[in-house]
This record gives sequence, C-alpha cells and structure tokens, in this order.
Amino acid sequence: MKSLTPFYDPSISYEDNYAQGPFGLFKQLDKAQQVPTKSSKFLNVEVNLPFGQPAGPLLNANYIKAAFAYGFDLCVYKTVRTKLHKCHPLPNVLSVHPNDKLSSNLDTVLADTNYNQPLSITNSFGVPSFSPDVWQPDMADAVKSAGHGQCVIGSFQGTQSNGEIENDYALAAKLVKETNAPILEANLSCPNEGASKLLCFDIDKVERIVNAIKTAVPDRPLILKLAYFPDDERIVSLLTRVGSIIDGLSAINTLSAKPVDAKGNPALGENRKEGGVCGDAIRWAGLDMVSRLAKYRKQMDLKFAIVGVGGVSSSEHYHQFIKNGADAVMSATGAMWNPLLAIEIKKSL
Ligand SMILES: Cc1cc2nc3c(=O)[nH]c(=O)nc-3n(C[C@H](O)[C@H](O)[C@H](O)COP(=O)(O)O)c2cc1C
Repeated sequence: MKSLTPFYDPSISYEDNYAQGPFGLFKQLDKAQQVPTKSSKFLNVEVNLPFGQPAGPLLNANYIKAAFAYGFDLCVYKTVRTKLHKCHPLPNVLSVHPNDKLSSNLDTVLADTNYNQPLSITNSFGVPSFSPDVWQPDMADAVKSAGHGQCVIGSFQGTQSNGEIENDYALAAKLVKETNAPILEANLSCPNEGASKLLCFDIDKVERIVNAIKTAVPDRPLILKLAYFPDDERIVSLLTRVGSIIDGLSAINTLSAKPVDAKGNPALGENRKEGGVCGDAIRWAGLDMVSRLAKYRKQMDLKFAIVGVGGVSSSEHYHQFIKNGADAVMSATGAMWNPLLAIEIKKSL
C-alpha cells in the first residue's frame, strides 16, 4: 500500500492546514490525470463514479478543487455550523495501533505519530466552523468548481447552545442551501445532551431535526450522517420514523476509543480521554452497517441511497462496499494518505 505525503498535515494546527493546505500531490494539480468512466446517477446528480470523500478532510474550496482534479467525484465540504466554533488544540490527529479491528466498546489503543500502513487514526477536532460570512462564499466557490459528473455535498450540524437544536439544524440547512450545494448532509453522529450518547441514537430528536430541515429546505436531497448502530432495533426504529422522508444515509462516522501514549496516559490530553477512530480498524463496522441498512431498506420497501464509509483505502474495499449495498462510497483516512485513490479505483473498473 502506498504512503504518500498526506494532503492534511497532522503536525500543524487546523487553522494552518486551512490557510496553507492542501499539501503533497493535492498542491500539484498538473500531476492529476483524468480516467474516463461510465457515469451513473446518485440522488439528483450525474456522477462519473459514485466515489469521493466524506465530511472532514476537505476543509475548504482549495481542498475540494484539488479533490475534484484527482477524480474524487463526490466531495463533502467539512461540516459547518451557524456560528463560529473553535477547534480543539493540537493534537487533532494521531496514528493508532489496535491489534486487529477496533470493537465498538470503547477500546484502549496505543496512539503515536508513526503513520504506518494499514493506517488507522484518531481524530479530535470538536467539529470547528468559521462563521457563515466566511464559509458561505467559500462553499459557493467550491460548488461552482465541480466539473462534469462531480458534485459538492454540504455538511452541517446544529449546536446545542444555540437554542432548540432542531431550529439550529434548520438554519444551518438554509445557509448551506444559499451556497447552491445540490445535496445537503446533516451530521447526526455528534454528542447529544440527553440519555443517548450520540444524537443519531436519540430517535425522537432525529425525527424533530429531520422534519425541521425538510420544512426549511424542502427542495434539496437530505443525507443523514450516522454512527455505527450496534443493535438492529434502533436501525428499524430510525427507518420507521424518517426512512421515507430522508433521501440518503451515510455510515459510518468514527468508532469511539481511548487513545493512550506509551506510558498509558491519555494521548489527546487529560481533558480528552476519548477520541474517534477511523481508517483500517473500523472497515468491518462500516461494511456491517451498510449491509444492515441495505437489508432493512429492502424489507421496509424504502428508497433512500446508502453512502458507505469506513476504512476504504483500496479499490477492493470500494467494491466490497458496493457489494454490501452502498450506492456511493467515500474515504477520509485512506484518501488523506493516498490522494491517488480515486484514480486507482477508476483504473480498476
Ligand atoms: C480529519 C477528519 C475530520 C473529520 N471531520 C468530520 C466532520 O467534520 N463531520 C463528519 O460528519 N465527519 C467527520 N469525519 C469522519 C469522516 O467523515 C468518516 O466518517 C470517518 O473518518 C470514517 O471514514 P474513514 O475510515 O475513511 O476515515 C472526519 C474524519 C477525519 C479523518
């Protein structure tokens, strides 16, 4: 497996990556090559290949333009909010070394800066956002930069302290729509204030949020970004309540773990004992979630699209997700360390 210079530099701050990045090949757009493909339809858009990058690695329009140049045809603009929200201090990204695959039970994992393949990382940013007056024109620029068969998906989330959470989600959706993003994605795999640890597990709240977004922006397809659901019961409950209202589900976000340094101390700092893990160690969970979503989609006669995410770093992984029922596939960690991934997948077809 290739280990190229990552286009996001984990050794410097998020703000510096935002201002100076992307790095490596993503800075050299003349090295990109076009690989022709047979186009297909994803939701309301025609895409060259239903493959791209999920919310996170593509911080702004400069990153999106590079990703489009290197053939990532579905590019999610990193999650934005209705107000400025600061990033956690460094470290934001560390390499993690689980023995095999990570469980969904908050495993303790060694974390350091040895970015060996097959790569898994912890990411801990706190979902930062600039204020809308900064991100709206930038997202609009990213939307305009899409070539033929390419599309920007605008990711957003509400913030607990900004009043009723569903109203803040609806406002964020409206602000994203104003940038002309053709598809919206609501990140629901974030912390919740109630008894359910993540928002997407709080089905009553999810239903309120989905209704508020669809009322505010009825004319754009809506994808929900989900975490890994260990139990089928909650998947069925979610699909029963919103399965016919939403247009797509993207799964999965990271699995939570406790990253520790060689001495056993919290690697992200004393006040961040837990971090989300993504990359190779969570692919089993992404594949499992996609096949269960596909199974219930069929059983319940629903039509939503499935975006498969989690540990994709090769064309073989892309094909596994498609086989399990994904309509589109995305890679964050794999793509960050291999900007040629989309080109490689297109060549494998
Ligand atoms: C650097 C980084 C930042 C991320 N930021 C976000 C985010 O803002 N919103 C979101 O929904 N997911 C975010 N994610 C999660 C990814 O979208 C994805 O669900 C997860 O990393 C699993 O995919 P992977 O194994 O290919 O990395 C982020 C991931 C990474 C690596």
